[in-house]
Amino acid sequence: MKNILVTGGTGFIGSHTVLELLNQNYRVTVIDNLSNSKLESLKRVETITGRNACFKKIDLLDVKALEELFSTNDFDAVIHFAGLKAVGESVEYPLRYYKNNINGTVNLCEAMVNAGVKNIVFSSSATVYGDPEKSPILEDSPLTSVNPYGRTKLTIEYILQELHYADDTWNIALLRYFNPVGAHESGEIGEDPNGIPSNLMPFITQVAVGKLPELKIFGGNYPTHDGTAIRDYIHVCDLATGHLKALEKLDENPGIAIYNLGTGKGSSVLDVITAFEKATGMMIPYTITDRRSGDAVICYADVTKANNELNWKTHRDLVDMCRDSWNWQQKNPDGYL
Ligand code: WQD
Repeated sequence: MKNILVTGGTGFIGSHTVLELLNQNYRVTVIDNLSNSKLESLKRVETITGRNACFKKIDLLDVKALEELFSTNDFDAVIHFAGLKAVGESVEYPLRYYKNNINGTVNLCEAMVNAGVKNIVFSSSATVYGDPEKSPILEDSPLTSVNPYGRTKLTIEYILQELHYADDTWNIALLRYFNPVGAHESGEIGEDPNGIPSNLMPFITQVAVGKLPELKIFGGNYPTHDGTAIRDYIHVCDLATGHLKALEKLDENPGIAIYNLGTGKGSSVLDVITAFEKATGMMIPYTITDRRSGDAVICYADVTKANNELNWKTHRDLVDMCRDSWNWQQKNPDGYL
């Protein structure tokens, strides 16, 4: 399976995955509407790898453009990242999320059906587990959604599975990411959020680089070892290689393959701050404030299934994640210009 279409391939996880695909000699076409990312990320991926990808600025709501794309290319598989992903924004603008994420995915799948392309790796999220009763979380743990963004991820999982039930020649990998952080070791590509970051790691690196005064820790009285909430942070480069393993898995015609992509370890907010200070020597000023509504208390993965069935495991720890996040931010204080 060598000719891959990557939707949303100029984004944080998409660009890191395109880098790994190019390094493994895949032919790559990237489509992105650039609403939440910059083409510069792909240019830097090409510089790092010394290889080129084909880029087309296409919005998944543009059915004609998708028809044209699939009629002029012979893709073996699709890795589908494109989608809006800000939890808070999804609560404020639910219709934008349903239209963009779900309608866009239906358009993509219709174009795939018409072209006879029936292999897809989907960028899902641990958010489909809602606020889990217990961790570590297994793939057959109860599914729910606690915000419109999470509901679009869960709905798309169901849509893709129903495609396979209707036509069992579809092969579908659903990858449930936990908390992706870090950056490629070059510091040339990384996480480039719009405006004030809502996620922890980019907020910390913007405090470290002097763009923000201090970190507010949302909640200090959770029932955890230090009172702050626990997550499973995974290095974006480990996450990227998980996508290539999932692509290889589709070659075995697995039908539906669902995997948690995490480290299997939980880290609290204060653990992350300690690791960041250890990795960089930089102190992060913080105050502990009220809990953020909708936050899970403890959420980390059981990664046994991915380890065994994908022959994949993570290699980078929290200090590596902090070091690489800081390296990117320090070299690119204003992100991609
Ligand atoms: C992590 C921890 C916060 C910011 C979200 C989405 C999920 C996925 C990853 C897309 C929590 C705390 C954060 C801050 C803080 N995105 N925090 N101060 O909420 O686990 O997951 O991003 O797929 O779908 O839900 O990630 O980085 O926002 O928060 O104390 O300024 O850091 O309370 O405990 P989250 P996060």
